[in-house]
Amino acid sequence: MTTVSLLDRAISVLRLNDAGMFTKPGPHQYPHQWNWDSALIALGLSHFDLPRAHLEIRSLLSGQWQDGMIPSVVYHSMPSDYFPPSQFWQIENSPSAPPVPTTGITQPPLLATVVRRIDSRHPNPDFVREVYPSLLRWHRWMHTARDIDDSALACIIHPWESGTDDSPRWLRLFEAIQPEALPEFRRGDTRYVAAAERPNRSEYERFIYLIDVFRKLNYAPTALLAHSPFLAQDVLFNAILFRADEDLRALGVSLGEPTGEIDGWLDRVQGNFNTRFWDEGAGLYYDYDVRSGNPIPVNTAATFLPLFAGLPSREQAQRLVEGHLLNPVEYAPSGQVRHWVTTTARTEPTWEPRRYWRGPVWVIMNWFIAEGLRRYGYDGLAETIRQDTLGLIETSGFREYYDARDGSGCGSDDFSWSAALALEMSHDSK
Ligand code: DGY
Repeated sequence: MTTVSLLDRAISVLRLNDAGMFTKPGPHQYPHQWNWDSALIALGLSHFDLPRAHLEIRSLLSGQWQDGMIPSVVYHSMPSDYFPPSQFWQIENSPSAPPVPTTGITQPPLLATVVRRIDSRHPNPDFVREVYPSLLRWHRWMHTARDIDDSALACIIHPWESGTDDSPRWLRLFEAIQPEALPEFRRGDTRYVAAAERPNRSEYERFIYLIDVFRKLNYAPTALLAHSPFLAQDVLFNAILFRADEDLRALGVSLGEPTGEIDGWLDRVQGNFNTRFWDEGAGLYYDYDVRSGNPIPVNTAATFLPLFAGLPSREQAQRLVEGHLLNPVEYAPSGQVRHWVTTTARTEPTWEPRRYWRGPVWVIMNWFIAEGLRRYGYDGLAETIRQDTLGLIETSGFREYYDARDGSGCGSDDFSWSAALALEMSHDSK
């Protein structure tokens, strides 16, 4: 298959999943609009249909809450067999809920970064002026409603907010959560994808238990910070947020907007990020469990996200890359593992090669890592990862994730962000 046909196929996947106003992340498994999926989908669409990319972003923003949160899912009243359905969240009990049905939690904030990148290729000040206030309100919400210690670092209250639902990063926090009573529910996520490639039952029960806690608190931000049994400062989320703050600032400057507030967030996060997350002994970034007051010493690919944000020093970057990413027992292909980059270090006992965020290769993580490597001058390694990722897609199709041992596909097929990032990563070589 030639590169041209790969790009044509990527466009076909985005067209296949086009629901008119928004693009489904996957045709069966994910039938509504997901936040960070949609940002990447807009980036992919911008390569061949700029008006449709703008519509994708407008549709996501239509779900913004009055307090500024952009939710993880906007349901758009589309009937589906997805669980949990919109009614399950009971967001109408919150005075901040928007008129369209959404979840009551957020997702990693990639949108400002995407808007800036699209604008750098197709300058459109009118569009930037239109979306900038919504982006600013979302970022303000993350730096205030989710700031528990005046650090400007954002807390997440649910693993779904990390985008990496069943990552081993969250297992210890889950052990401390004992659901008293669970609402009645029936999972839908194992209808189209093998159960062995989806989260385990005990984690899934906690996902649902947490939603039940939040809806009983009517999603009041102070109550959530005070009472959510799950409360973490997430390396991945905060690295993406810092990068997005930089991009939001650049958009503000292009519009002639004052940037003092954003500068304040950038200064504070820059000052607090390494103190909070860097483990000097391990040479890794660890997430932080706010409830227990302890770092979470689990080695996953989230540790490389700060490179994407330019947050590590040169020396820290060298330790991350040369000590871990290139280490053949942790991340680098070796022996039975033929592909970059497993989402969990293979030295972790919880590494599972085919289960969701427990270890498979994800296109989005490889894109973040390659971008971060280029920022630190590791161009050769970035190129190796870019080519390996495009090769995986070419061989196994636009899958949700891949088994690093043989490159076979897992999870949803016709997965939109794998298609969107194939377009973006092919563009990277031009
Ligand atoms: C799911 O349904 O698996 C999603 O990740 C939750 O947003």
